[in-house]
Amino acid sequence: MNSESFQFNINHVAIIMDGNGRWAKMRSHPRVWGHIRGSGVVADIVEAADDFGVKALTLYAFSTENWCRPEGEVKVLFKLLHKFLLKEKARILANDICFKIIGDISNLPLKTKDLIDVLEKESSNNKGLKLTFAFGYGSRDEIVMSVNKFIEKNPGKKIAVEDLSANLYQAHEEVDLLIRTGGDQRISNFLLWQIAYAELFFTDTKWPDFSREEFKEILKSVSTRERRFGAISNSINLQKNIDLAKVNKASIRG
Ligand code: FPP
Repeated sequence: MNSESFQFNINHVAIIMDGNGRWAKMRSHPRVWGHIRGSGVVADIVEAADDFGVKALTLYAFSTENWCRPEGEVKVLFKLLHKFLLKEKARILANDICFKIIGDISNLPLKTKDLIDVLEKESSNNKGLKLTFAFGYGSRDEIVMSVNKFIEKNPGKKIAVEDLSANLYQAHEEVDLLIRTGGDQRISNFLLWQIAYAELFFTDTKWPDFSREEFKEILKSVSTRERRFGAISNSINLQKNIDLAKVNKASIRG
């Protein structure tokens, strides 16, 4: 852990790392240069998340829609993932980080899939930061997959909220804060189910310029927001509110 540690009580942060291409174009470089610089920022932000007391960090590295990009750009993104895993494996294990990929990685090169497999297995019992890369990921696909998994296991039964949540890539993982860099204010098919009660933060900073200082400022500013989860005053427990709402609904008749 870095000496500069702060605790912000924000458990799960998800980040849409956007703006690489524009960052590179503004500097008259090809788009992939932005991805290369952007991949260098990833390790800093992982370390910062750990230092700031974040328990889970989910990064959107490649979406199902990104398949429509030029082949050269897609291949660079594959290579950057591979390089990241090679370079950071020892640090991930030494820092007790639990690593996972969510999404469809069937089209990745075999050597990358093997690296992922080994790292996921070796880090699976780690109790520190839960680091997840969404790669080949699309939230609608994930939701449909969850429903189909449930139907297969429970033919003829109606699906409930808890069932859908239980059959996602990572069961019952609510996001507390979603950050998007790059200036656009949209969700782009990322963790649609999991962000139901998340705080949203959009910054104009393009991903290659995103820094641990800005990350800290965002966590600081969001941690002062009042989260009510549908209640009328500050509340820290979404599940408790959901349970209470059910009891009240059953007992209050108009
Ligand atoms: C969006 O920028 C970013 C991506 C599609 C990929 C994010 C990838 C990285 C940060 C590097 C990969 C790193 C690892 C470790 C896997 P964009 O190209 O959409 O930017 P633009 O909106 O400016 O065009």
